[in-house]
Amino acid sequence: MDHVTKVAQPIAHATAVGLDSSRLPRHVAIIMDGNGRWAKSRTWDRTRGHQQGAEVVRSITTESVKLGIARLTLYAFSSENWSRPPAEIDFLMELLDRFLKNELPTLQENDVRLEAIGSLQRLPLNVRKTLDRIINTTAQNKSMVLCLALSYGGRDELTDACRAIAREVQAGRIAPEEITPQTIQSHLYAPHAHDVDVVIRTAGEQRMSNFLPWEATYAEFISVAPLWPDFGIAAYHAALQEFQRRERRFGGV
Ligand code: FPP
Repeated sequence: MDHVTKVAQPIAHATAVGLDSSRLPRHVAIIMDGNGRWAKSRTWDRTRGHQQGAEVVRSITTESVKLGIARLTLYAFSSENWSRPPAEIDFLMELLDRFLKNELPTLQENDVRLEAIGSLQRLPLNVRKTLDRIINTTAQNKSMVLCLALSYGGRDELTDACRAIAREVQAGRIAPEEITPQTIQSHLYAPHAHDVDVVIRTAGEQRMSNFLPWEATYAEFISVAPLWPDFGIAAYHAALQEFQRRERRFGGV
């Protein structure tokens, strides 16, 4: 695919769906909420909500590429989610493993690079191996980064960064006075990622839930009503249109 094709297609697509292609967010982060409620309303097991949720991950990822978004971070499993019943955790881990294996051709076709952030060492070995394989296989892809927040907690991320910086101070490589916001940024799980422009949370919830506290400091927060398994392309476009209506001042006037 040549450069012109890659750039021209997203602009046309964004315009066609009512978005200003020159003001699209570079980094979209999504808190995928409501899988359990979606299943419960149908008297189904919660796991069916997660299963349907994985389908939505596929469609929103593909749509993000079509729009020309550079980075999509999805909150797939939080550090707090480890307190869920073991059977639900096992199901989510198996679902993730299967999803990653099945998605590889789609990631390659769409030129998407996979990344993961979080306390990944806590994940089961099979999931870690699959993640490593897909991350390595997609490492050269350029159109978009799909970043999965797995076993992720924002406070854990900042604590890990503090520990790493403290070790550097202890070793005499850096003086405490030399620590700047850039020092902290460079010790995050994804140090080179652009700041989050917009956080979208489904199921009408309005909390950040320990998600990207450093990276989303200046993000617009958009809460949308649909439960994650019902979150379709049209609702995604509507959320991005809402983002484009916001005036971002970054503390200025
Ligand atoms: C929140 O819904 C969702 C999760 C904790 C897990 C998110 C997982 C998926 C969308 C599917 C798998 C992901 C990938 C990347 C394949 P909830 O269970 O908290 O819903 P509730 O608040 O209605 O109970």
